[in-house]
Amino acid sequence: MDAPDISADLTEVLYSSDQISARLDEIAAQIDADYAGKDLLLIGVLNGAVMVMADLSRKLKTHAAMDWMAISSYGAGTKSSGVVRILKDLSTDLTGRHVLVVEDIIDTGLTLAYLMQNLAGRGPASIALMAMFRKPLAMKTPVDVAYVGFDIPNDFVVGYGLDYAGRYRNLADLGILAPRVYS
Ligand code: IMP
Repeated sequence: MDAPDISADLTEVLYSSDQISARLDEIAAQIDADYAGKDLLLIGVLNGAVMVMADLSRKLKTHAAMDWMAISSYGAGTKSSGVVRILKDLSTDLTGRHVLVVEDIIDTGLTLAYLMQNLAGRGPASIALMAMFRKPLAMKTPVDVAYVGFDIPNDFVVGYGLDYAGRYRNLADLGILAPRVYS
């Protein structure tokens, strides 16, 4: 679905699917250059990173293996709980691999701080992070983000893989959810 299909649920469209795609072209070119000659493993964080993983991986000009993790974050609410639980672990051994974690959004950074520390302990040759969207609070966390799609305001956003209570993930654009939907 596109933003006009659910315009009553959004207060603003922050980035259209075309703008997201164009930014991903740039990031993919950067990743291709940075990992030239290296065996890259992309790790997607379910469920939100499904769209960015699918689009970014297909824009790369080099081989990239993919694996997935599922961790708990928000449940059905709009505030980070700070409680991180691994719901699905990787099936790949990270020893000696060049790992790039692909995330949908960094808000408080609590989820990723935990995840990056956990993965770094598994002996990868290198580990870095790509996030499609980043909110202002994320700047205060110790998580180093190598590639960022867009810095966005501190609003609750949906679309491009991001949900509210399981909905809006299949919105192709990124929009600010109207508060009346969750209040
Ligand atoms: P953090 O631990 O606060 O950085 O939260 C990260 C996770 O919370 C993301 O991977 C998303 O699943 C979810 N999240 C954070 N902000 C939003 C938002 O604006 N819309 C939808 N999900 C969000």
